[in-house]
Amino acid sequence: MRTDTSQTIYRNDYTPPSYLVETVELGFDLDPARTIVANRMTMRRNPGSKRAGIELHGENIELVALRMNGKLLGKRDYRIDGRLLRIPNTPDDVTLEIETLTAPEKNTTLSGLYVSNGNFFTQCEAEGFRSITFFPDRPDVMAKFTVMLRADKEKYPVLLSNGNLVEEGELGDGRHFALWEDPFKKPSYLFALVAARLVCQEERFRLKDGRDALLQVWVEEGNLDKTDYAMQSLKNSIRWDEERFGLELDLDRFMIVAVGDFNMGAMENKGLNIFNTKFVLANPRVATDVDYAGIEAVVGHEYFHNWTGNRVTCRDWFQLSLKEGLTVFRDQEFSADMIGTDSGRAVTRIDQVRTLRQAQFPEDAGPMAHPVRPDSFVEINNFYTVTVYEKGAEVVRMIQTLVGREGFRKGMDLYFERHDGQAVTCDDFRAAMADANGRDLNQFERWYSQAGTPVVGAVGRYDAEAKTFDLTLSQSCPPTPGQTDKLPFHIPVAVGLLGADGNDMQLGQGGLKGATAVLELTEQSQTFSFTGVLEAPTPSMLRDFSAPVVLEYAYTDDELLHLFSHDSDPVNRWEAGQRLAMARLSRLAGALANGGKLDLDDTFIDAMRKILVDATLDPAFREQALLLPSETMIAEKMGVVNPQAIHAARQFVRACIGACLRAELTSQYHANLTPGQYSPDALSAGRRGLKNLALSYLAAAPDADGVNLAQAQFDGADNMTDRVAALVALIQARADAAPAALHDFYQDFKNEALVIDKWFSMQAAAPDTDVKAVRALMQHSAFNLKNPNRARSLVFSFCGGNPAQFHAIDGSGYAFWAEQVIALDAINPQVASRLARSMDRWRRYAPALQLNMKKALQQVASLKKLSNDVREVVSKALA
Ligand code: ARG
Ligand code: ZN
Repeated sequence: MRTDTSQTIYRNDYTPPSYLVETVELGFDLDPARTIVANRMTMRRNPGSKRAGIELHGENIELVALRMNGKLLGKRDYRIDGRLLRIPNTPDDVTLEIETLTAPEKNTTLSGLYVSNGNFFTQCEAEGFRSITFFPDRPDVMAKFTVMLRADKEKYPVLLSNGNLVEEGELGDGRHFALWEDPFKKPSYLFALVAARLVCQEERFRLKDGRDALLQVWVEEGNLDKTDYAMQSLKNSIRWDEERFGLELDLDRFMIVAVGDFNMGAMENKGLNIFNTKFVLANPRVATDVDYAGIEAVVGHEYFHNWTGNRVTCRDWFQLSLKEGLTVFRDQEFSADMIGTDSGRAVTRIDQVRTLRQAQFPEDAGPMAHPVRPDSFVEINNFYTVTVYEKGAEVVRMIQTLVGREGFRKGMDLYFERHDGQAVTCDDFRAAMADANGRDLNQFERWYSQAGTPVVGAVGRYDAEAKTFDLTLSQSCPPTPGQTDKLPFHIPVAVGLLGADGNDMQLGQGGLKGATAVLELTEQSQTFSFTGVLEAPTPSMLRDFSAPVVLEYAYTDDELLHLFSHDSDPVNRWEAGQRLAMARLSRLAGALANGGKLDLDDTFIDAMRKILVDATLDPAFREQALLLPSETMIAEKMGVVNPQAIHAARQFVRACIGACLRAELTSQYHANLTPGQYSPDALSAGRRGLKNLALSYLAAAPDADGVNLAQAQFDGADNMTDRVAALVALIQARADAAPAALHDFYQDFKNEALVIDKWFSMQAAAPDTDVKAVRALMQHSAFNLKNPNRARSLVFSFCGGNPAQFHAIDGSGYAFWAEQVIALDAINPQVASRLARSMDRWRRYAPALQLNMKKALQQVASLKKLSNDVREVVSKALA
């Protein structure tokens, strides 16, 4: 018998379910204090399985009655232990009727059935369904669901579940009902219900096959002026999936519901997507350009799951990236296609690279490192990670790079032909891609099984006599927990060669045509020869970031400047600038840590100037090229991390840029104003982005001009993008006017929860905000630790987004962290566990800091009453 609740689960222990569920009929009598759930399901022994009884998951629910094939079972007929309900010696065909009780209003975990602002919502992925009713709560058990909802009509006028509305009506005594039927078999994690006082924007939308679908976006009444963009994004997503992948909406009705209390971004429940309000609500007054882009991406993401996740789902949770990596890839392609231009596409790609370096590379190098397809876990919710999602998307993208865009489409078609309606594995996906294209992707499997970020070293040798350029690529991968030795990966390295004139050379070698060759590095070291190379080239490697690796090449400054000015690949053009900046930032941070003096060369400033004023380049690209690597990214490059030195170094460079380029920044500021009605389109957003970056540099310079400009922008702003940018500039510059601006901002937006989140997070990340200031903000009447968005806006923004203060020498930041992890764990383990991750990289800090970090980790780990979620994170950090 299992008594240890924090057990490690292994991928290799997978066994098929002993019973399958054919149909489920659920009846809900909804009441915040006492909800009765009736579950009637027909089950059949899985033909492949050996004689075994029935095993149902069930947690935090009270069993009222259990009937098997019409007969009431007594205490001796089954075993129940708080996690599992076991009925031994069951016949092949079984109908179970189970009645249970829950108290949704007491459920602060936001998993299962819960109450948010007086309304009922569910979140079942990954294992929330088991706290709604007893069920084989695993993704390879797929059943047809029928759901009857009953609730007070006055309080909960809207009753929603998956699929189609079959019937609705009155029940007397003020209650009403709705009966929903989902025509598709689905795993329990895709179940959802909503019972709420909400209103919707709705529209009929013509699908490609001529059918009309009803689209709805449900929100609280005061938010009906913020649903247009989500609706537009949904329509764009439907069109895009029809056109790019030939995939159609398979339901007559598709609903999006916004909820203010939500652990993650959103959830793809069949036909009833439930969203964090952050990824639904927008109008120019309250949402920034970044918010708009987030809505488009997440609406797309959840909609695309309908095929990659729902129609074809995961066999077990180790296969999570099967649906998440693929669906992130799809939403990335969707966002890029929505912009439509090559340069816009490159800007979205640069953003993706930034996310990888900012969050995924550190994860891959830390104590929680895991393969895209993990081998084990204690708590699956800890594995909804940047590795599974974003690196998973990179792995899918590499397949597309290897087989081409058409080949990728062929692979997708075969994948659905083979697996529609099934629960499958990452290997099945890879096999479909390989078979559809006649390609061997066996070695490619290591991207799924080996953790860690590979390092690719490159050495070039030009032979002027023979007119050849030899490029030797070698690879290695640092050890990660449980994996000391790595085998070589199959790495696509896209390479171009630039001549002295800055143009691409035509590559004629061995079937490689055009300006970019995709080299396939499969050995530990390989040399690729380019012939007919008339002059010594500057190699541009890993174009479009063709693989999620660290590329090491001894570029000279002159080569980087050449690439920064000329590379035809915009991602590598940006990359050259990042390398130039990173070299200076790490040198300065090192100098500061050792009391050295600061200086910045004109070469760098001149390179920045050139890009800044180059009107042939998109403003969005110029913004990306001028944005310095973040403090976290700099930290990853340092031997010993000194957060205060990194912060000061970056501030110094920002101030230099502001002062040295004052004239150019000012003229670009004015050249990129976007007068007239606000529009979130990429071109306008790019102009605002460049203009606001110019503002932030100007405000960082020592003189007062930038601060005055920020104040003027703040006062005159007619949209949230400009308002927030101006406020951040004032705060970061420690301007005297900042407190008053913050005060006004609060007064203007105190009824807009998502804007108040911004108000907290801007302050949490402010240079002068120390632990004491954060504690004071926590006392503000608008602060609420129970609301994940609010907790993230203040506590997470401080612990993760203000390194120079969080890592205060006295250890006060760490003590605060421990306190908040513990407080959150009692409310919501999933959220607590995310906060726990901010200590992942503790071993990289100076000994004095390390000591305090370790103490804080130990303090949390020593607690007897700790969730599996947090325990897994802190014990792996200490291991
Ligand atoms: N499948 C959702 C998405 O990627 C994420 C839900 C995860 N939720 C959780 N509690 N682990 O869109
Ligand atoms: Zn997803």
